[in-house]
This record gives sequence, C-alpha cells and structure tokens, in this order.
Amino acid sequence: MKLFLDSAITDEIKHSLEYWDLDGLTTNPKHVQNSGKPFMKVIEEIAELFAGTEKPVSVEVDPHIIDWEQIVEQGIGLSKMSPNFVIKVGASENGFKAIRELTRLGIRTNATLIFSVAQAWHAARAGAYFISPFIGWKETYGDSTTTFILEVAEMLDRHQYDSEIIAAAIRNGRQIADVALAGAHCVTAGLSVYQESMQNPYTVHGEKVFQNAWDATPKSE
Ligand code: E4P
Repeated sequence: MKLFLDSAITDEIKHSLEYWDLDGLTTNPKHVQNSGKPFMKVIEEIAELFAGTEKPVSVEVDPHIIDWEQIVEQGIGLSKMSPNFVIKVGASENGFKAIRELTRLGIRTNATLIFSVAQAWHAARAGAYFISPFIGWKETYGDSTTTFILEVAEMLDRHQYDSEIIAAAIRNGRQIADVALAGAHCVTAGLSVYQESMQNPYTVHGEKVFQNAWDATPKSE
C-alpha cells in the first residue's frame, strides 16, 4: 500500500519525502488554506518538490465550479503546470462527466469526496485514475466503515476497473491497518497520524527494559 501525505505545507512534504520516501501527495482547498500561502504559489512550490519524480500529486479544482466544461478547462490548466499533477474532482454528475473528458484527454484524475460504493463505481466507469473514499468523515457522522474499502476494492476487482483506491481522511493507526487489510492501494493522512502510527507505549517500555539491561551488562572482561 502506497503512503501519500495529505498536506500542502512544504516543510511537512519535505520531511516525509526525506524520511519516508513518500509515494505521493494529496492536497485539498483546506490544506492549501492551512499552508497560509496563495493557491498558485503553494502549488508551484509543491510542483518543484516533486519535479523529476514519478510521484503523483493531487491538486483540487475550484470547488465552486459545477459546470463540467469549466472543471475540464481548469484541470487542463493545472495539469500543464506539472507532469506529477493529478486533477482532483468532486463526486457529482458533472464531476464524473469532467473526469470522463479529462481521462479522454490523457489527464489523470482523482475522484474525491466518495462516500458510497455507487459513487466509486461511477468514478471508475468514468476512468478516474484514483478514487478517494473518505473514512474519517464517515465515522465522524456515525457511519460504519468496516466494509466500505473492502466493497469498493471488490467492485473494482470484480469488474476489472483500473482505478486505484486512496483511503482518505485517515485519523489513526487502526484505520491505516483496516484499509490496508481491506485492499486500499494507497492511504493518505496527515503527518502526525503517520508519526503516531510509528509509535507504541509498549515499544517505549521495551526500549527502557533493554536500556536497563544494557547498562547492567559489563562491556568487557
Ligand atoms: C483526501 O484526499 C482529502 O484531502 C482528505 O483526506 C480530506 O480529509 P481531512 O482533510 O479531513 O483529513
């Protein structure tokens, strides 16, 4: 399963590229806002960080645009900025039409805000390169996600769609494990979620036990 960072903060991106050999990046308008920089400036900086790699970077079109032709127009413009850019389009009838058209033009897309298997199926039929089911948001509102990724993965597999699942809005290590076991191709989460998932209180306890043993052992005759 590929590890994508969900962020538009360049220091976080640099850290995860350097330490984790990050597989790709996802951004959204909230992350761009959190970067504190204008949209164009931050995505140019991000493009620079990924230049010369094959790593995909999802950049979302203006979410106000509902006309599919305008989505396509903006998508074409963004895709010209970097070969790494994958155009993120919200799930809707017009969004799926835009995905179909962008795919026809050879531009990769990420169908975002996916909350049902039916939406994932429409995205796959339209040719979405990535499909992003939002796990954390569903759980926030009391929906079970136990079988969500499993069902999307089975639907793609059974009908031989090429789209890859990015399990999105992941909040903790348990969710990382669940989506990995359910067959997500990629996972995207914030920096702190990954850092926390690398830790465990038992590991800290174990290190202490071993440090004590090390200290109590003579180092030579
Ligand atoms: C995915 O591509 C989205 O950017 C992301 O996971 C949205 O969720 P969050 O910002 O609430 O974590």
